[in-house]
Amino acid sequence: MPLPKAELHLHIEGTLEPELAFELAARNGVTLPYASTEELRRAYLFTDLQSFLDLYYGLMAVLRTEQDFADLADAYLARAAEQGVRHAEIFFDPQAHMARGVSMETVVGGLSRALATSEERFGISTLLIMCFLRDQSAESAMETLKAAEPYLNRITGVGLDSAEVGHPPAKFREVYEEAGRLGLRKVAHAGEEGPPAYITEALDVLKVERIDHGLTAMRDPAVVERLVRDQIPLTLCPLSNVRLRAIDILEEHPLREMMAAGLLCTVNSDDPSYFGGYVGDTFHAVQEALGLDHEALRTLARNSFRASFLEDDEERRAR
Ligand code: ADE
Ligand code: ZN
Repeated sequence: MPLPKAELHLHIEGTLEPELAFELAARNGVTLPYASTEELRRAYLFTDLQSFLDLYYGLMAVLRTEQDFADLADAYLARAAEQGVRHAEIFFDPQAHMARGVSMETVVGGLSRALATSEERFGISTLLIMCFLRDQSAESAMETLKAAEPYLNRITGVGLDSAEVGHPPAKFREVYEEAGRLGLRKVAHAGEEGPPAYITEALDVLKVERIDHGLTAMRDPAVVERLVRDQIPLTLCPLSNVRLRAIDILEEHPLREMMAAGLLCTVNSDDPSYFGGYVGDTFHAVQEALGLDHEALRTLARNSFRASFLEDDEERRAR
């Protein structure tokens, strides 16, 4: 039986498997620039974050209707259940869909329809986190937050993703302040490719409660000290770091050193369809590559619930 765990860093659009992409393309009359699922998979050779994002945003063209978003979420939940996931905090990128004329109502409607019955069908509790694309303007992020207001009963928090370098967290100060006034929880990608200073800035300026990735913290002992002192959770994604060339090979991932330093580490899949594994596969991969013992894996699983936005009593039930 896989270890029960929570997944805290998962882009629902990054769970779009080639087979479903072709099915949705046929259903919606969208022509993909790939002849087959094999050809599409062969294109998954990334040199950095941007090279991945180009393909990721391109493939989203197949997502058009509420049913498409419900099918996408259902497919993820079925896979996640097999991997021991009991709770998932799921990112989505509404700006990438609204740019194609797909409404917030379609996106949130489809996703939340699938999530509404996730506990009874898959034994997985879920929350939704709406991400802003940091390589778009702060005004666009604010408009997106406004567009989401009618749906805030179904959205727990906000996040910040897409191309990191050159788009520091402070650009989104006002949007995060407004999100706070609306009662939303806050996370942000920081320190995936960007400098450790972005991690500090996300904490100080955006007042985030968790850091998504936080890998580059290890370059600055003062940032590590701060993260340890305040026990800020990091949602690490080791397979993503290898595929996007932040590190050369999994054996060189600093997860062990990060845990030893006292950082509150969690392990997640990021975009599992693109990076070669869902979260259970990621646990196995780091166990093998880094020689983690069962106690270390149990700590990572325990951390995932501790770092979640579940209330204490819900957390106990999910575990
Ligand atoms: N969007 C989807 N996956 C992402 C990642 N790993 N980093 C930033 N933005 C993303
Ligand atoms: Zn991510």
